[in-house]
Amino acid sequence: MKKIIFSLLLVSGLINTVMAAEGNIEAGKAKSGMCAACHGANGLSASPNFPNLAGQHADYIAKQLKSFKDGNRTDAMMAPMAAGLSNQDMADLGAFFASQSRTVEKSSDASDTSASGNVVAAVTKFVPDAAAGKSIYELGDPSRSIAACVNCHGKEWRSEVLIYPNLAKQHSVYIEKQLHSFKAGNRKDPAMNQFAAALSDNEIKNIGAYFTDTKAVANVKARRPAAPSALSENAIAGKAKAAACAACHSADGNSLVAAYPKLAGQSARYIAKQLVDFKVGASSNGQEGRSDAVMAGMVMALSEQDMLELGSYFAAQKVSAGNGSDNELGRKLYFGGDAARGITACVSCHGVKGNGMPKAGFPAVAGQHVEYLAAQLNQFSKKTRANDKNGMMRSIAKRLKKDDVAALSQFMSSLK
Ligand code: HEC
Ligand code: HEC
Ligand code: HEC
Ligand code: HEC
Repeated sequence: MKKIIFSLLLVSGLINTVMAAEGNIEAGKAKSGMCAACHGANGLSASPNFPNLAGQHADYIAKQLKSFKDGNRTDAMMAPMAAGLSNQDMADLGAFFASQSRTVEKSSDASDTSASGNVVAAVTKFVPDAAAGKSIYELGDPSRSIAACVNCHGKEWRSEVLIYPNLAKQHSVYIEKQLHSFKAGNRKDPAMNQFAAALSDNEIKNIGAYFTDTKAVANVKARRPAAPSALSENAIAGKAKAAACAACHSADGNSLVAAYPKLAGQSARYIAKQLVDFKVGASSNGQEGRSDAVMAGMVMALSEQDMLELGSYFAAQKVSAGNGSDNELGRKLYFGGDAARGITACVSCHGVKGNGMPKAGFPAVAGQHVEYLAAQLNQFSKKTRANDKNGMMRSIAKRLKKDDVAALSQFMSSLK
Protein backbone atom coordinates (compact mmCIF):
# COMPACT_ATOMS: atom_id res chain seq x y z
CA MET A 1 0.00 0.00 0.00
CA LYS A 2 2.81 2.37 0.96
CA LYS A 3 4.39 1.69 -2.39
CA ILE A 4 1.22 2.54 -4.29
CA ILE A 5 0.75 5.81 -2.43
CA PHE A 6 4.38 6.65 -3.09
CA SER A 7 3.95 5.94 -6.79
CA LEU A 8 0.87 8.07 -6.98
CA LEU A 9 2.70 10.96 -5.33
CA LEU A 10 5.41 10.42 -7.86
CA VAL A 11 2.86 10.60 -10.65
CA SER A 12 1.47 13.89 -9.43
CA GLY A 13 4.94 15.36 -9.07
CA LEU A 14 6.01 14.26 -12.50
CA ILE A 15 2.98 15.60 -14.26
CA ASN A 16 3.53 18.94 -12.65
CA THR A 17 7.07 19.04 -13.95
CA VAL A 18 6.16 18.06 -17.49
CA MET A 19 3.43 20.67 -17.89
CA ALA A 20 4.80 23.58 -19.87
CA ALA A 21 3.42 26.66 -18.16
CA GLU A 22 3.14 27.27 -14.41
CA GLY A 23 -0.25 28.73 -13.53
CA ASN A 24 -0.82 31.77 -11.34
CA ILE A 25 -4.00 31.87 -9.28
CA GLU A 26 -4.31 35.66 -9.12
CA ALA A 27 -3.70 36.08 -12.86
CA GLY A 28 -6.24 33.32 -13.51
CA LYS A 29 -8.83 35.02 -11.37
CA ALA A 30 -8.39 38.24 -13.36
CA LYS A 31 -8.85 36.35 -16.64
CA SER A 32 -11.87 34.34 -15.45
CA GLY A 33 -14.40 37.15 -15.77
CA MET A 34 -15.77 35.94 -19.08
CA CYS A 35 -16.13 32.39 -17.78
CA ALA A 36 -18.37 33.40 -14.90
CA ALA A 37 -21.49 33.80 -17.01
CA CYS A 38 -21.66 30.06 -17.55
CA HIS A 39 -19.37 28.40 -15.01
CA GLY A 40 -20.08 30.72 -12.08
CA ALA A 41 -17.65 33.20 -10.50
CA ASN A 42 -16.13 30.50 -8.27
CA GLY A 43 -16.41 27.73 -10.83
CA LEU A 44 -19.70 26.44 -9.41
CA SER A 45 -22.20 26.66 -12.20
CA ALA A 46 -25.90 27.17 -11.61
CA SER A 47 -27.04 25.24 -14.68
CA PRO A 48 -26.49 21.48 -15.01
CA ASN A 49 -25.45 22.00 -18.65
CA PHE A 50 -22.33 23.87 -17.60
CA PRO A 51 -19.76 21.77 -15.76
CA ASN A 52 -18.45 22.77 -12.34
CA LEU A 53 -14.79 23.75 -12.63
CA ALA A 54 -14.13 24.44 -8.95
CA GLY A 55 -11.68 21.95 -7.44
CA GLN A 56 -10.95 20.33 -10.81
CA HIS A 57 -7.28 19.50 -11.51
CA ALA A 58 -5.51 22.49 -13.08
CA ASP A 59 -3.71 20.29 -15.59
CA TYR A 60 -6.98 18.71 -16.71
CA ILE A 61 -8.59 22.15 -17.20
CA ALA A 62 -5.62 23.38 -19.24
CA LYS A 63 -5.69 20.18 -21.33
CA GLN A 64 -9.41 20.62 -22.10
CA LEU A 65 -8.96 24.29 -23.04
CA LYS A 66 -6.20 23.26 -25.42
CA SER A 67 -8.47 20.57 -26.90
CA PHE A 68 -11.28 23.07 -27.42
CA LYS A 69 -8.81 25.44 -29.06
CA ASP A 70 -7.32 22.97 -31.53
CA GLY A 71 -10.68 21.35 -32.21
CA ASN A 72 -9.95 17.93 -30.68
CA ARG A 73 -12.92 18.50 -28.40
CA THR A 74 -15.81 20.32 -30.01
CA ASP A 75 -18.37 22.53 -28.36
CA ALA A 76 -20.01 25.54 -29.96
CA MET A 77 -19.83 27.61 -26.77
CA MET A 78 -16.34 26.70 -25.68
CA ALA A 79 -14.57 26.94 -29.05
CA PRO A 80 -14.74 30.74 -29.24
CA MET A 81 -13.89 31.00 -25.52
CA ALA A 82 -10.69 29.00 -25.90
CA ALA A 83 -9.66 30.39 -29.29
CA GLY A 84 -7.97 33.47 -27.90
CA LEU A 85 -6.26 31.86 -24.90
CA SER A 86 -2.49 31.41 -24.76
CA ASN A 87 -0.85 28.48 -22.95
CA GLN A 88 -0.13 30.84 -20.07
CA ASP A 89 -3.79 31.94 -19.91
CA MET A 90 -4.86 28.30 -19.81
CA ALA A 91 -2.44 27.49 -17.00
CA ASP A 92 -3.55 30.55 -15.02
CA LEU A 93 -7.25 29.75 -15.45
CA GLY A 94 -6.58 26.14 -14.45
CA ALA A 95 -4.72 27.25 -11.34
CA PHE A 96 -7.53 29.62 -10.35
CA PHE A 97 -10.41 27.17 -10.72
CA ALA A 98 -8.41 24.36 -9.11
CA SER A 99 -7.94 26.55 -6.05
CA GLN A 100 -11.69 27.00 -5.57
CA SER A 101 -13.60 24.66 -3.30
CA ARG A 102 -16.33 22.42 -4.68
CA THR A 103 -18.41 22.45 -1.55
CA VAL A 104 -21.71 22.50 -3.42
CA GLU A 105 -24.03 19.87 -2.02
CA LYS A 106 -26.76 17.86 -3.61
CA SER A 107 -29.11 20.88 -3.79
CA SER A 108 -27.27 22.28 -6.80
CA ASP A 109 -28.41 19.26 -8.74
CA ALA A 110 -32.04 19.86 -7.93
CA SER A 111 -32.75 20.70 -11.55
CA ASP A 112 -31.14 17.51 -12.82
CA THR A 113 -33.78 15.43 -14.48
CA SER A 114 -32.00 12.15 -14.00
CA ALA A 115 -32.46 12.26 -10.22
CA SER A 116 -34.54 9.64 -8.53
CA GLY A 117 -37.29 12.17 -7.89
CA ASN A 118 -39.39 11.09 -10.84
CA VAL A 119 -41.59 8.81 -8.78
CA VAL A 120 -44.82 9.69 -10.57
CA ALA A 121 -43.45 8.86 -13.97
CA ALA A 122 -41.97 5.63 -12.69
CA VAL A 123 -44.59 3.35 -14.16
CA THR A 124 -43.86 4.20 -17.76
CA LYS A 125 -40.39 5.70 -17.59
CA PHE A 126 -37.09 4.00 -16.90
CA VAL A 127 -36.11 4.71 -13.30
CA PRO A 128 -32.37 5.07 -12.97
CA ASP A 129 -30.83 2.70 -10.46
CA ALA A 130 -28.08 4.52 -8.56
CA ALA A 131 -26.85 1.29 -6.98
CA ALA A 132 -26.30 -0.23 -10.40
CA GLY A 133 -24.39 2.92 -11.33
CA LYS A 134 -22.21 2.50 -8.27
CA SER A 135 -21.56 -1.07 -9.20
CA ILE A 136 -20.27 -0.09 -12.65
CA TYR A 137 -18.21 2.71 -11.11
CA GLU A 138 -16.48 0.45 -8.64
CA LEU A 139 -16.23 -2.81 -10.55
CA GLY A 140 -16.71 -2.08 -14.22
CA ASP A 141 -17.86 -5.05 -16.28
CA PRO A 142 -14.95 -7.25 -17.36
CA SER A 143 -17.14 -9.30 -19.66
CA ARG A 144 -17.67 -6.21 -21.81
CA SER A 145 -14.17 -4.72 -21.47
CA ILE A 146 -15.38 -1.92 -19.22
CA ALA A 147 -12.67 -1.12 -16.67
CA ALA A 148 -13.75 -0.03 -13.20
CA CYS A 149 -14.06 3.76 -13.30
CA VAL A 150 -12.59 3.98 -9.81
CA ASN A 151 -9.21 2.84 -11.21
CA CYS A 152 -8.74 6.15 -12.95
CA HIS A 153 -11.25 8.56 -11.45
CA GLY A 154 -10.47 7.56 -7.89
CA LYS A 155 -12.30 6.81 -4.68
CA GLU A 156 -14.90 9.41 -3.81
CA TRP A 157 -14.19 10.62 -7.34
CA ARG A 158 -10.95 12.30 -6.36
CA SER A 159 -8.58 11.12 -9.03
CA GLU A 160 -4.90 11.02 -8.13
CA VAL A 161 -3.69 11.45 -11.69
CA LEU A 162 -3.92 15.08 -12.66
CA ILE A 163 -5.15 14.66 -16.22
CA TYR A 164 -7.99 12.36 -15.09
CA PRO A 165 -10.89 14.60 -14.19
CA ASN A 166 -12.47 14.61 -10.75
CA LEU A 167 -16.10 13.68 -11.14
CA ALA A 168 -17.03 14.53 -7.56
CA LYS A 169 -20.12 16.69 -7.27
CA GLN A 170 -20.32 17.26 -10.98
CA HIS A 171 -23.79 17.77 -12.51
CA SER A 172 -25.22 14.41 -13.54
CA VAL A 173 -26.75 15.92 -16.68
CA TYR A 174 -23.27 16.98 -17.75
CA ILE A 175 -21.78 13.56 -16.87
CA GLU A 176 -24.40 11.79 -18.98
CA LYS A 177 -23.86 14.16 -21.90
CA GLN A 178 -20.10 13.45 -21.85
CA LEU A 179 -20.62 9.69 -21.71
CA HIS A 180 -22.90 9.89 -24.74
CA SER A 181 -20.36 12.06 -26.48
CA PHE A 182 -17.55 9.55 -25.79
CA LYS A 183 -19.88 6.75 -26.87
CA ALA A 184 -20.63 8.41 -30.21
CA GLY A 185 -16.93 9.21 -30.68
CA ASN A 186 -17.59 12.96 -30.81
CA ARG A 187 -15.29 13.47 -27.84
CA LYS A 188 -12.13 11.47 -28.20
CA ASP A 189 -10.18 9.56 -25.58
CA PRO A 190 -9.09 6.01 -26.36
CA ALA A 191 -9.97 4.59 -22.94
CA MET A 192 -13.24 6.47 -22.49
CA ASN A 193 -14.39 5.69 -26.04
CA GLN A 194 -13.99 1.97 -25.35
CA PHE A 195 -15.81 2.02 -22.00
CA ALA A 196 -18.64 4.34 -23.01
CA ALA A 197 -19.29 2.43 -26.21
CA ALA A 198 -20.09 -0.62 -24.11
CA LEU A 199 -22.52 1.22 -21.80
CA SER A 200 -26.23 1.12 -22.61
CA ASP A 201 -28.27 4.32 -22.47
CA ASN A 202 -29.92 3.13 -19.27
CA GLU A 203 -26.59 2.36 -17.66
CA ILE A 204 -25.46 5.89 -18.45
CA LYS A 205 -28.57 7.11 -16.62
CA ASN A 206 -27.70 4.81 -13.71
CA ILE A 207 -24.23 6.33 -13.49
CA GLY A 208 -25.70 9.84 -13.63
CA ALA A 209 -28.11 8.94 -10.84
CA TYR A 210 -25.22 7.68 -8.75
CA PHE A 211 -23.48 11.04 -9.03
CA THR A 212 -26.68 12.88 -8.19
CA ASP A 213 -26.92 11.27 -4.80
CA THR A 214 -23.95 9.15 -3.89
CA LYS A 215 -24.91 9.16 -0.23
CA ALA A 216 -28.18 7.42 -0.95
CA VAL A 217 -26.32 4.34 -2.08
CA ALA A 218 -23.41 4.59 0.33
CA ASN A 219 -24.50 1.44 2.10
CA VAL A 220 -25.53 -0.56 -0.91
CA LYS A 221 -23.06 -3.36 -1.46
CA ALA A 222 -21.66 -3.25 -4.94
CA ARG A 223 -21.97 -6.37 -7.07
CA ARG A 224 -19.20 -8.79 -6.26
CA PRO A 225 -16.79 -9.68 -9.02
CA ALA A 226 -17.39 -13.17 -10.35
CA ALA A 227 -15.10 -15.78 -8.85
CA PRO A 228 -12.49 -17.02 -11.31
CA SER A 229 -14.26 -20.31 -11.75
CA ALA A 230 -12.92 -23.38 -13.55
CA LEU A 231 -9.67 -21.57 -14.23
CA SER A 232 -7.54 -24.24 -12.66
CA GLU A 233 -9.25 -26.93 -14.73
CA ASN A 234 -8.42 -25.00 -17.88
CA ALA A 235 -4.88 -24.47 -16.71
CA ILE A 236 -4.38 -28.20 -16.21
CA ALA A 237 -5.70 -28.95 -19.68
CA GLY A 238 -3.52 -26.16 -21.08
CA LYS A 239 -0.34 -27.61 -19.67
CA ALA A 240 -0.40 -30.60 -22.00
CA LYS A 241 -1.11 -28.41 -25.02
CA ALA A 242 1.66 -25.97 -24.11
CA ALA A 243 4.28 -28.54 -25.05
CA ALA A 244 3.95 -27.28 -28.62
CA CYS A 245 4.96 -23.79 -27.49
CA ALA A 246 7.92 -24.77 -25.32
CA ALA A 247 10.52 -24.56 -28.07
CA CYS A 248 10.17 -20.81 -28.24
CA HIS A 249 8.28 -19.70 -25.13
CA SER A 250 9.76 -22.33 -22.71
CA ALA A 251 7.76 -24.87 -20.75
CA ASP A 252 6.91 -22.40 -17.98
CA GLY A 253 6.38 -19.46 -20.33
CA ASN A 254 9.63 -17.72 -19.40
CA SER A 255 11.23 -17.70 -22.83
CA LEU A 256 14.97 -17.26 -22.89
CA VAL A 257 15.14 -15.67 -26.34
CA ALA A 258 14.42 -11.95 -26.54
CA ALA A 259 12.44 -12.15 -29.78
CA TYR A 260 10.01 -14.62 -28.19
CA PRO A 261 7.81 -12.94 -25.61
CA LYS A 262 7.45 -14.32 -22.10
CA LEU A 263 3.94 -15.60 -21.55
CA ALA A 264 4.30 -16.45 -17.84
CA GLY A 265 1.99 -14.37 -15.68
CA GLN A 266 0.37 -12.78 -18.72
CA SER A 267 -3.42 -12.70 -18.43
CA ALA A 268 -5.32 -15.63 -19.90
CA ARG A 269 -7.74 -13.31 -21.60
CA TYR A 270 -5.01 -11.31 -23.32
CA ILE A 271 -3.17 -14.46 -24.47
CA ALA A 272 -6.36 -15.93 -25.89
CA LYS A 273 -7.10 -12.67 -27.71
CA GLN A 274 -3.63 -12.62 -29.29
CA LEU A 275 -4.04 -16.20 -30.47
CA VAL A 276 -7.38 -15.35 -32.05
CA ASP A 277 -5.81 -12.25 -33.62
CA PHE A 278 -2.88 -14.24 -35.06
CA LYS A 279 -5.39 -16.63 -36.61
CA VAL A 280 -7.44 -13.80 -38.08
CA GLY A 281 -4.23 -12.19 -39.33
CA ALA A 282 -3.20 -15.37 -41.11
CA SER A 283 -6.56 -15.94 -42.75
CA SER A 284 -7.09 -12.31 -43.81
CA ASN A 285 -3.63 -11.97 -45.29
CA GLY A 286 -2.68 -9.41 -42.68
CA GLN A 287 -5.63 -7.11 -43.37
CA GLU A 288 -7.06 -7.69 -39.89
CA GLY A 289 -5.86 -9.15 -36.60
CA ARG A 290 -2.14 -9.49 -35.87
CA SER A 291 0.42 -10.74 -38.36
CA ASP A 292 3.42 -12.86 -37.52
CA ALA A 293 4.73 -15.55 -39.82
CA VAL A 294 5.90 -17.79 -36.99
CA MET A 295 2.80 -17.56 -34.83
CA ALA A 296 0.49 -17.91 -37.83
CA GLY A 297 1.65 -21.48 -38.23
CA MET A 298 1.14 -22.21 -34.55
CA VAL A 299 -2.46 -21.09 -34.19
CA MET A 300 -4.23 -22.44 -37.26
CA ALA A 301 -5.16 -25.73 -35.59
CA LEU A 302 -6.18 -24.24 -32.24
CA SER A 303 -9.84 -24.06 -31.18
CA GLU A 304 -11.13 -21.26 -28.94
CA GLN A 305 -11.19 -23.71 -26.04
CA ASP A 306 -7.52 -24.60 -26.69
CA MET A 307 -6.65 -20.90 -26.63
CA LEU A 308 -8.42 -20.35 -23.33
CA GLU A 309 -6.70 -23.35 -21.78
CA LEU A 310 -3.27 -22.30 -23.05
CA GLY A 311 -3.88 -18.81 -21.71
CA SER A 312 -4.96 -20.14 -18.32
CA TYR A 313 -1.87 -22.33 -18.06
CA PHE A 314 0.59 -19.54 -18.83
CA ALA A 315 -1.31 -17.06 -16.65
CA ALA A 316 -0.79 -19.35 -13.68
CA GLN A 317 3.03 -19.32 -14.11
CA LYS A 318 5.31 -16.81 -12.44
CA VAL A 319 7.21 -14.41 -14.67
CA SER A 320 10.99 -14.29 -14.16
CA ALA A 321 12.96 -11.05 -13.70
CA GLY A 322 13.44 -9.04 -16.88
CA ASN A 323 16.67 -7.89 -18.49
CA GLY A 324 15.85 -4.18 -18.33
CA SER A 325 16.93 -1.53 -15.85
CA ASP A 326 15.19 1.31 -14.07
CA ASN A 327 15.87 4.74 -15.60
CA GLU A 328 14.61 8.27 -15.15
CA LEU A 329 13.10 8.95 -18.57
CA GLY A 330 11.31 5.60 -18.71
CA ARG A 331 9.93 5.98 -15.19
CA LYS A 332 8.79 9.53 -15.90
CA LEU A 333 6.90 8.64 -19.07
CA TYR A 334 5.50 5.42 -17.63
CA PHE A 335 4.00 7.08 -14.55
CA GLY A 336 3.39 10.58 -15.86
CA GLY A 337 3.03 10.40 -19.64
CA ASP A 338 3.65 13.69 -21.39
CA ALA A 339 0.55 15.85 -21.56
CA ALA A 340 2.17 18.37 -23.88
CA ARG A 341 2.85 15.66 -26.47
CA GLY A 342 -0.45 13.86 -25.92
CA ILE A 343 1.16 10.74 -24.45
CA THR A 344 -1.09 9.05 -21.90
CA ALA A 345 0.65 7.64 -18.84
CA CYS A 346 1.22 3.92 -19.34
CA VAL A 347 0.43 3.28 -15.67
CA SER A 348 -3.24 3.96 -16.25
CA CYS A 349 -3.61 0.81 -18.32
CA HIS A 350 -0.55 -1.33 -17.60
CA GLY A 351 -0.71 -0.82 -13.83
CA VAL A 352 1.55 0.44 -11.06
CA LYS A 353 3.60 -2.77 -11.06
CA GLY A 354 3.29 -3.44 -14.78
CA ASN A 355 0.89 -6.32 -14.18
CA GLY A 356 -1.67 -4.92 -16.61
CA MET A 357 -5.40 -5.04 -16.04
CA PRO A 358 -6.44 -8.53 -17.02
CA LYS A 359 -10.15 -7.85 -16.96
CA ALA A 360 -9.90 -4.90 -19.31
CA GLY A 361 -7.56 -6.72 -21.69
CA PHE A 362 -4.51 -4.56 -20.91
CA PRO A 363 -1.42 -6.80 -20.98
CA ALA A 364 1.25 -7.21 -18.32
CA VAL A 365 4.60 -5.71 -19.33
CA ALA A 366 6.65 -6.34 -16.15
CA GLY A 367 9.60 -8.70 -16.61
CA GLN A 368 9.13 -8.87 -20.40
CA HIS A 369 12.20 -8.85 -22.65
CA VAL A 370 13.39 -5.32 -23.46
CA GLU A 371 13.85 -6.14 -27.14
CA TYR A 372 10.36 -7.58 -27.51
CA LEU A 373 8.74 -4.56 -25.82
CA ALA A 374 10.64 -2.15 -28.08
CA ALA A 375 9.71 -4.18 -31.15
CA GLN A 376 6.01 -4.00 -30.25
CA LEU A 377 6.10 -0.24 -29.67
CA ASN A 378 7.74 0.20 -33.06
CA GLN A 379 5.15 -2.06 -34.67
CA PHE A 380 2.27 -0.08 -33.15
CA SER A 381 3.92 3.13 -34.28
CA LYS A 382 4.33 1.89 -37.87
CA LYS A 383 0.87 0.28 -37.67
CA THR A 384 2.25 -3.10 -38.70
CA ARG A 385 0.58 -4.21 -35.47
CA ALA A 386 -2.94 -2.86 -35.43
CA ASN A 387 -4.93 -5.26 -33.25
CA ASP A 388 -5.31 -2.78 -30.38
CA LYS A 389 -8.90 -1.76 -29.88
CA ASN A 390 -9.65 1.83 -30.97
CA GLY A 391 -5.98 2.32 -31.82
CA MET A 392 -5.27 2.73 -28.10
CA MET A 393 -1.58 1.83 -28.46
CA ARG A 394 -1.03 3.16 -31.99
CA SER A 395 -2.09 6.66 -31.00
CA ILE A 396 0.41 6.63 -28.13
CA ALA A 397 3.29 4.81 -29.83
CA LYS A 398 3.40 7.16 -32.82
CA ARG A 399 4.20 10.02 -30.44
CA LEU A 400 7.18 8.29 -28.85
CA LYS A 401 10.70 9.18 -30.01
CA LYS A 402 13.42 6.59 -30.43
CA ASP A 403 14.94 7.41 -27.04
CA ASP A 404 11.54 7.21 -25.35
CA VAL A 405 10.97 3.72 -26.74
CA ALA A 406 14.37 2.55 -25.52
CA ALA A 407 13.91 4.06 -22.05
CA LEU A 408 10.35 2.78 -21.63
CA SER A 409 11.23 -0.73 -22.73
CA GLN A 410 14.10 -0.88 -20.24
CA PHE A 411 11.90 0.46 -17.48
CA MET A 412 8.90 -1.81 -18.10
CA SER A 413 11.13 -4.86 -18.21
CA SER A 414 12.65 -3.89 -14.85
CA LEU A 415 9.25 -3.77 -13.12
CA LYS A 416 8.51 -6.58 -10.67
C1 HEC B 1 -21.39 30.64 -22.97
C2 HEC B 1 -21.14 29.71 -21.90
C3 HEC B 1 -19.69 29.39 -21.55
C4 HEC B 1 -18.66 30.27 -21.26
C5 HEC B 1 -18.75 31.80 -21.25
C6 HEC B 1 -17.51 29.48 -20.92
N1 HEC B 1 -17.83 28.16 -21.00
FE1 HEC B 1 -16.59 26.60 -20.53
N2 HEC B 1 -18.07 25.24 -21.04
C7 HEC B 1 -19.32 25.58 -21.51
C8 HEC B 1 -20.03 24.35 -21.87
C9 HEC B 1 -21.45 24.26 -22.42
C10 HEC B 1 -19.16 23.27 -21.59
C11 HEC B 1 -19.43 21.77 -21.78
C12 HEC B 1 -19.02 21.35 -23.19
C13 HEC B 1 -19.35 19.91 -23.47
O1 HEC B 1 -20.47 19.49 -23.20
O2 HEC B 1 -18.44 19.20 -23.91
C14 HEC B 1 -17.92 23.88 -21.07
C15 HEC B 1 -16.80 23.13 -20.69
C16 HEC B 1 -15.65 23.67 -20.17
C17 HEC B 1 -14.53 22.91 -19.71
C18 HEC B 1 -14.41 21.38 -19.66
C19 HEC B 1 -14.84 20.89 -18.29
C20 HEC B 1 -14.72 19.39 -18.10
O3 HEC B 1 -15.07 18.93 -16.98
O4 HEC B 1 -14.28 18.67 -19.00
C21 HEC B 1 -13.58 23.80 -19.26
C22 HEC B 1 -12.23 23.47 -18.67
C23 HEC B 1 -14.13 25.13 -19.46
N3 HEC B 1 -15.38 25.02 -20.02
C24 HEC B 1 -13.47 26.31 -19.14
C25 HEC B 1 -13.93 27.59 -19.42
C26 HEC B 1 -13.17 28.81 -19.20
C27 HEC B 1 -11.78 28.83 -18.58
C28 HEC B 1 -13.95 29.84 -19.62
C29 HEC B 1 -13.56 31.32 -19.64
C30 HEC B 1 -12.37 31.64 -20.38
C31 HEC B 1 -15.19 29.27 -20.09
N4 HEC B 1 -15.15 27.91 -19.96
C32 HEC B 1 -16.27 30.01 -20.58
C33 HEC B 1 -19.83 26.87 -21.60
C34 HEC B 1 -19.13 28.05 -21.40
C1 HEC C 1 -8.08 4.16 -17.97
C2 HEC C 1 -8.53 5.32 -17.22
C3 HEC C 1 -10.06 5.62 -17.18
C4 HEC C 1 -11.07 4.78 -16.78
C5 HEC C 1 -10.97 3.33 -16.30
C6 HEC C 1 -12.30 5.55 -16.87
N1 HEC C 1 -12.01 6.82 -17.29
FE1 HEC C 1 -13.35 8.35 -17.52
N2 HEC C 1 -11.89 9.59 -18.22
C7 HEC C 1 -10.55 9.22 -18.37
C8 HEC C 1 -9.82 10.32 -18.99
C9 HEC C 1 -8.33 10.31 -19.35
C10 HEC C 1 -10.78 11.36 -19.22
C11 HEC C 1 -10.51 12.75 -19.84
C12 HEC C 1 -10.45 12.65 -21.34
C13 HEC C 1 -10.10 13.99 -21.95
O1 HEC C 1 -8.99 14.48 -21.70
O2 HEC C 1 -10.95 14.55 -22.66
C14 HEC C 1 -12.06 10.87 -18.70
C15 HEC C 1 -13.24 11.61 -18.72
C16 HEC C 1 -14.45 11.16 -18.19
C17 HEC C 1 -15.65 11.95 -18.10
C18 HEC C 1 -15.80 13.41 -18.54
C19 HEC C 1 -15.53 14.30 -17.34
C20 HEC C 1 -15.56 15.78 -17.64
O3 HEC C 1 -15.35 16.56 -16.68
O4 HEC C 1 -15.77 16.19 -18.80
C21 HEC C 1 -16.61 11.16 -17.54
C22 HEC C 1 -18.04 11.55 -17.24
C23 HEC C 1 -16.02 9.87 -17.27
N3 HEC C 1 -14.71 9.91 -17.67
C24 HEC C 1 -16.70 8.78 -16.71
C25 HEC C 1 -16.16 7.50 -16.57
C26 HEC C 1 -16.93 6.34 -16.19
C27 HEC C 1 -18.40 6.33 -15.87
C28 HEC C 1 -16.05 5.28 -16.18
C29 HEC C 1 -16.34 3.81 -15.88
C30 HEC C 1 -17.32 3.17 -16.74
C31 HEC C 1 -14.73 5.80 -16.54
N4 HEC C 1 -14.85 7.14 -16.77
C32 HEC C 1 -13.57 5.04 -16.60
C33 HEC C 1 -9.97 8.02 -17.97
C34 HEC C 1 -10.66 6.90 -17.51
C1 HEC D 1 8.85 -21.15 -33.43
C2 HEC D 1 8.71 -20.24 -32.32
C3 HEC D 1 7.32 -20.11 -31.66
C4 HEC D 1 6.49 -21.14 -31.22
C5 HEC D 1 6.71 -22.66 -31.31
C6 HEC D 1 5.36 -20.49 -30.62
N1 HEC D 1 5.52 -19.13 -30.67
FE1 HEC D 1 4.29 -17.72 -29.85
N2 HEC D 1 5.46 -16.21 -30.56
C7 HEC D 1 6.60 -16.40 -31.32
C8 HEC D 1 7.09 -15.08 -31.76
C9 HEC D 1 8.30 -14.81 -32.63
C10 HEC D 1 6.19 -14.11 -31.23
C11 HEC D 1 6.26 -12.57 -31.38
C12 HEC D 1 5.48 -12.11 -32.58
C13 HEC D 1 5.54 -10.62 -32.77
O1 HEC D 1 6.60 -10.03 -32.65
O2 HEC D 1 4.49 -10.03 -33.01
C14 HEC D 1 5.18 -14.86 -30.48
C15 HEC D 1 4.13 -14.27 -29.81
C16 HEC D 1 3.18 -14.96 -29.09
C17 HEC D 1 2.13 -14.35 -28.32
C18 HEC D 1 1.89 -12.85 -28.12
C19 HEC D 1 2.46 -12.44 -26.78
C20 HEC D 1 2.27 -11.00 -26.42
O3 HEC D 1 2.79 -10.59 -25.37
O4 HEC D 1 1.61 -10.25 -27.16
C21 HEC D 1 1.40 -15.36 -27.76
C22 HEC D 1 0.18 -15.22 -26.86
C23 HEC D 1 1.99 -16.62 -28.18
N3 HEC D 1 3.07 -16.35 -28.98
C24 HEC D 1 1.52 -17.86 -27.79
C25 HEC D 1 2.03 -19.07 -28.27
C26 HEC D 1 1.45 -20.35 -27.96
C27 HEC D 1 0.23 -20.58 -27.06
C28 HEC D 1 2.21 -21.28 -28.62
C29 HEC D 1 1.96 -22.79 -28.67
C30 HEC D 1 0.67 -23.21 -29.13
C31 HEC D 1 3.27 -20.57 -29.32
N4 HEC D 1 3.12 -19.24 -29.08
C32 HEC D 1 4.28 -21.17 -30.07
C33 HEC D 1 7.21 -17.60 -31.59
C34 HEC D 1 6.69 -18.86 -31.31
C1 HEC E 1 -5.58 3.28 -22.78
C2 HEC E 1 -4.87 2.12 -22.33
C3 HEC E 1 -3.38 2.01 -22.64
C4 HEC E 1 -2.39 2.94 -22.37
C5 HEC E 1 -2.54 4.32 -21.77
C6 HEC E 1 -1.15 2.31 -22.77
N1 HEC E 1 -1.39 1.06 -23.24
FE1 HEC E 1 0.02 -0.25 -23.94
N2 HEC E 1 -1.47 -1.59 -24.46
C7 HEC E 1 -2.81 -1.38 -24.28
C8 HEC E 1 -3.55 -2.49 -24.85
C9 HEC E 1 -5.06 -2.64 -24.85
C10 HEC E 1 -2.59 -3.37 -25.40
C11 HEC E 1 -2.84 -4.70 -26.11
C12 HEC E 1 -3.50 -4.53 -27.46
C13 HEC E 1 -3.95 -5.88 -28.00
O1 HEC E 1 -5.08 -6.28 -27.70
O2 HEC E 1 -3.17 -6.52 -28.67
C14 HEC E 1 -1.28 -2.77 -25.13
C15 HEC E 1 -0.07 -3.35 -25.50
C16 HEC E 1 1.17 -2.81 -25.20
C17 HEC E 1 2.42 -3.44 -25.50
C18 HEC E 1 2.61 -4.80 -26.14
C19 HEC E 1 2.59 -5.87 -25.06
C20 HEC E 1 2.76 -7.27 -25.60
O3 HEC E 1 2.88 -8.18 -24.75
O4 HEC E 1 2.75 -7.47 -26.81
C21 HEC E 1 3.42 -2.60 -25.07
C22 HEC E 1 4.90 -2.84 -25.16
C23 HEC E 1 2.77 -1.44 -24.50
N3 HEC E 1 1.41 -1.59 -24.60
C24 HEC E 1 3.44 -0.34 -23.97
C25 HEC E 1 2.83 0.83 -23.52
C26 HEC E 1 3.55 2.03 -23.14
C27 HEC E 1 5.06 2.18 -23.14
C28 HEC E 1 2.60 2.96 -22.79
C29 HEC E 1 2.82 4.41 -22.35
C30 HEC E 1 3.69 5.24 -23.17
C31 HEC E 1 1.30 2.32 -22.95
N4 HEC E 1 1.49 1.05 -23.39
C32 HEC E 1 0.09 2.93 -22.66
C33 HEC E 1 -3.39 -0.31 -23.62
C34 HEC E 1 -2.73 0.84 -23.21
